[in-house]
Amino acid sequence: MKKRVLVSGGAGYIGSHVTVELVNAGYDVLVADNMSNCDMTCFEGVKKITGKDDIPFECIDCCDDAAVQKLFSDYRIDAVIHFAAYKAVGESVAEPVKYYRNNLDSFLNILEASKTHGGCNVLFSSSATVYGETDELPVTENSPRKPATSPYGNTKQICEDILRDVVKASAVYEPMEQGASRNGQIKGIALRYFNPIGAHPSALIGELPRGVPNNLVPFITQTAIGKRECLSIFGNDYPTPDGTCLRDYIDVVDLAKAHVAAVARMLDGKMKESYEIFNIGTGRPVSVSELVTAFEKVNGLKLNYKYTPRRPGDVMAIWADPSLANEELGWTAERTVEETLASAWAWEKHLAENR
Ligand code: WQD
Repeated sequence: MKKRVLVSGGAGYIGSHVTVELVNAGYDVLVADNMSNCDMTCFEGVKKITGKDDIPFECIDCCDDAAVQKLFSDYRIDAVIHFAAYKAVGESVAEPVKYYRNNLDSFLNILEASKTHGGCNVLFSSSATVYGETDELPVTENSPRKPATSPYGNTKQICEDILRDVVKASAVYEPMEQGASRNGQIKGIALRYFNPIGAHPSALIGELPRGVPNNLVPFITQTAIGKRECLSIFGNDYPTPDGTCLRDYIDVVDLAKAHVAAVARMLDGKMKESYEIFNIGTGRPVSVSELVTAFEKVNGLKLNYKYTPRRPGDVMAIWADPSLANEELGWTAERTVEETLASAWAWEKHLAENR
């Protein structure tokens, strides 16, 4: 029988790309989303890309524990990928209660429902932000988690610890048979993404930031299309080769494929520990200036930008050592930053023509 994966927040940017790759890999997928940070554009795009228009969609808020419990009663769920969370760093500083309430309650409800329905495998969408201001570069999964630089980042640290503790507590039951997950045991994987960017090559799904984009690449593409006047590059006085910040920009399709590899690891009983963590990055640091230059070059355009003071809360540099994911998940980032920036631009042009 085909295994079913629940993708909470599955109508969003990363969730929709993961849904495509899960369907392509032969899984049944159930998408749950409260549509607070997206519309149906990407879910409709998923159906066009996969050719499957019967992917079940449940419009629920994962903070509603009765709704989450009902989801687990109505569907047999073999694994959950939990994306449903708020993720704007700046907003989390201004509204911490909103972030702790939403990001923690939604995950606790998923874990509680999994437990009361016999246990299942849980994949948590974490972030490199859990490393905080680290000076140990590249970061490995054993690099220390410094104090989070925002409530958003802290919710990611806390949810990792919750998953770790829930997995440990559930391990008291009899050992899980190969791939089964109905003896109450919960196994967990946390994927720590670095900077997801780009869009599906079909240009039918991509990032849909609401209002003024916080993140670099959607601000670049919106500037290039004329929706924004000018890109501000936040600081060119850092002690880096060109003075701008360094990041590990991971293509969203590569990132989605890492999720499929992690789900397979859990469902095929290949995990070595009941709770595992993987960095999902390219291992290649790229500066803001390099990214802007690459975007101009690959898309044959000139971007309007200026240098402005540093953005509070930014870390100067962070990039991954992805060797554990490469070895254990058999996954490696494949798309070049140029291909990814071309896909981001194609998506922005698709939006301009179709919305
Ligand atoms: C990247 C670089 C900015 C915008 C955060 C979260 C992370 C993940 C991605 C959710 C920085 C610079 C940006 C702009 C700029 N979370 N920049 N002008 O801050 O590395 O990571 O978002 O998705 O968990 O921590 O990403 O894209 O905001 O910034 O110069 O208009 O681009 O200073 O150096 P960040 P980002």
